[in-house]
Amino acid sequence: MATEETGGVELSEAQIAVHWREEEYYHPTNKVIAGANASDPAILERFAEENFPDCFREYAELLSWDQYWHTTLDTSHAPFWKWFVGGKLNASYNCVDRHLVDKANKAALIWVPEPLDEPTQAITYRELYRRVNEYAVMLRDFCGVKFGDRVTLHMPMVPELPAIMLACARLGAIHSEVFGGFSGTACGDRIADAGSKLLITIDGYYRAGQLIDHKVKADEAIEVAKKHGQTVERVMVFRRHQGRYLSETPMVDGRDFFVDDVMPQYRGQTVAPLSVPAETPLFLMYSSGTTGRPKGAQHCHGGYLAYAAGTTKFYLDVHPDDTYWCFADIGWITGHSYIVYGPLALGTTSVMYEGAPTWPDAARPWQIAERLGVNIFHTAPTTIRMLRKLGPDEPAKYDYHFKVMCTVGEPIEPEVWRWYYNSVGKKEASIADTWWLTETGGHIGATLPGLQPMKPGSCGPGALGIYPVLLDEDGNVVPRGSGVAGNICIRNPWPGTLQTVWGDDERFLSTYYRRYNRNPDSQDWHDWPFLCGDGAVESADGYFRILGRIDDVINVAGHRLGTKELESAALTVEEVAEAAAVPVRDELRGRVVELYVALKPGYSASKRIEDGVVEAIEREIGKVARPKNVWIVPDMPKTRSGKIMRRVITGISNFSDVGDTSTLANPEVVEEVRQQVQTAKRERGEVPVEAGEGS
Ligand code: WT7
Repeated sequence: MATEETGGVELSEAQIAVHWREEEYYHPTNKVIAGANASDPAILERFAEENFPDCFREYAELLSWDQYWHTTLDTSHAPFWKWFVGGKLNASYNCVDRHLVDKANKAALIWVPEPLDEPTQAITYRELYRRVNEYAVMLRDFCGVKFGDRVTLHMPMVPELPAIMLACARLGAIHSEVFGGFSGTACGDRIADAGSKLLITIDGYYRAGQLIDHKVKADEAIEVAKKHGQTVERVMVFRRHQGRYLSETPMVDGRDFFVDDVMPQYRGQTVAPLSVPAETPLFLMYSSGTTGRPKGAQHCHGGYLAYAAGTTKFYLDVHPDDTYWCFADIGWITGHSYIVYGPLALGTTSVMYEGAPTWPDAARPWQIAERLGVNIFHTAPTTIRMLRKLGPDEPAKYDYHFKVMCTVGEPIEPEVWRWYYNSVGKKEASIADTWWLTETGGHIGATLPGLQPMKPGSCGPGALGIYPVLLDEDGNVVPRGSGVAGNICIRNPWPGTLQTVWGDDERFLSTYYRRYNRNPDSQDWHDWPFLCGDGAVESADGYFRILGRIDDVINVAGHRLGTKELESAALTVEEVAEAAAVPVRDELRGRVVELYVALKPGYSASKRIEDGVVEAIEREIGKVARPKNVWIVPDMPKTRSGKIMRRVITGISNFSDVGDTSTLANPEVVEEVRQQVQTAKRERGEVPVEAGEGS
C-alpha cells in the first residue's frame, strides 16, 4: 500500500518474502476423502459467483434460528453489509443449549493444564451449560451487565474463558478478550477504547513451567484506562486454584471480587439466551493497524457465527464425533473462531491446552494427541518450526492419527510444510493452510482437505464464496500466473466480515475500502473490493502465495504488531528522539522486530538505553513484542522531507537490497549504519543463510 505515511510497499514484510519456486501438488488420501464433509466438487458450483450471496444460506442453516431471515445480504448501506437480515438467534444458545438434546454427556471442552501433575478436565455440554448459565447470572446480577455492554476479559487459556465469553453472548453483552500475554497497559488501552466498566481476569496461570502473576496487570490496566477517562467499576478475579490466591497484588476493597466467592449464591440458576437480531455485535477483537491506536474489529451473532461454523465444517472438516485440537490462544481471533465458536456451534469436542507447546519438551503435543485421540490438529508455522527444531523425530514415537492439520497465521516455508506433512501428519493427513485475518472472522483462502490438492507454501484458492483478486497500485488486475505480486483484495462481501471498527466507521472505511472503491455512493458490492493488507502472488492454477503485510504491521510468530505502537513505546524512553521498527526474517518466528533509535542531542549510546527500550516495549505492549535487537544509530536515513526510510533499514537488517538511496537527504549515513548493524549481526551469528558470508 503506497501511503504517504509509509512511503510505499518498500517497508513491508512482502518485500522481504522468500522467493519460492512453484511446488508440486500433494493429494488427499482416499481415507480423508471418504470421511470429508466436502468431497463432492458440486460444492464448488454451489459457492460459485453466480450463486452469490444465496450460497451462504448453507452456512447460516448450520445454526438454529429463532426467526428465519428475510434478506440474505442487504447492501443498501454499503460497505456496511448486513447479512441474514430479519433473522434472530443467540450464539450462546447455538454453541451450548441446542446440543443438550443429543450431546449432553459428550465433552464440549477438554482442558489440559500445563503442569504435568494436574489432571485433564473434560467439560461436557451439560456442564458447560451449567457454567455458562451461572456466569451469566453473575454477570447480570452481581456485575450489572446489560444488553450491549462491553465486558473486557484479560484471560489466559483456562476453561473459564470460553464459558464467560458464552455467558456474555447469552445476555447480548459484547465481550472483548485481550490476549493474556499482553501487558496491563495494552489491556487498559483496549478497556478505554471499548468503554468497559467491567474487567474479568485471573490471579495467575502456568506458562513454560512458570507461574505467572496475572492479577498485577489488572491494576495497571485500570490505571491506564482511567488516564483515558474510562473508569472500571468492578474486577472479577478467577482463581487458578480454587480458594488459593496466587497473586502478590492485594484485592481492592469494593472493586475486586473473587469469582469463586460469589458463585455459590447463583448455583443452578439459569438465564434464557436473549434472542437478538443477526447483526447484533457479539465481540470485539483488537488488532494492530497503521496508527498506534489498536482497532476493535466488531463481529456479530449471525453472519460471524454462520461463517465460523461453515468454515470449521468444510476447511477443518470437523464432525460432531471428532476430537479437535487447536493450539492457538483464545486471546486471538483464531481461538475465538476455531476453538470456541466454530467447533462448539457444530457440537464437537474442542481441546484447550494451557501452556507452551514445548513444555516440558517437544513431545508434549504428541503425548496429548495420543492420550486424547485427537484427529484434527491446528497450529501455526512458528510452533511447527519450533517443534521441528527441538524434536524432529518425536511425532513418530506416538500413536495418534490426524486426518486434517491446519496451519495459520503466517506463510509456511515449503520445507517446514513437508516436515509437518511427513512427520507430524505421517503422510495421512491433509493440510489446510488457512489464510485469513482478524477482520475476516474466518478463512478466506485455503484448500478443502478432501477435495482440493495442497501445494506447500500456498494457501490455495479463495475459500468457498470468497472471490479474491490481486490489484496493483492503480487498481488494475494483476493477471493470474504472471508471477507479479499485488495487493490481495476480496471482491465480494462475506458473512464473517467485521461489521466496522468499534466506534470508528471512518477508520473502517479508510482502512479496508477507500483504496479501491469505485464509487462512494454505490450500493453495488462489485464497487467495493476489500483490501486485506497482504501482498500475494497468484499462480496459473488460482492458488495464492501470501507474501506478508504491505502496511505498517509486523507479523511476529503469527502475532500482529503495529510499527507505530512499537515506536511510540520506544519514544517513552527519555533519551530517545526517533524510533523505527522493521521486520526481520527469522528462522523460528517467521519475522522478528528490530528497532532503530536515534538519541536526543547530548546523549550517547549505551546498553542501559537499549535495555530501556526493550523494557518500554514490554510494558506498553507485552513480552510478545520484545525486539530482537535495538540499534542505536547516529542518524536515521531520511527523505528530504524528513521521513525515515524504513525500506533502507529493513534492507540493512535483512542483508538484502536497500534500493535507491540517491534521493535521501543524508545518503552517507546508510553506509555507516550498515557497517554498524551488519558487523554486530555477524558477530552475533545472525546472518541469514541466503545472504551468505561477506555479502
Ligand atoms: C495476517 C492476519 C487469522 C489468523 C491469525 C492471524 C497473516 C494469516 C496466513 C496464512 C500466510 C497468513 C497475513 C494476514 N496470515 N494466515 N495461512 N499464510 N499468511 O490473524 O493477527 O489478524 O493477522 O496474518 O499476513 O494479513 P491476524
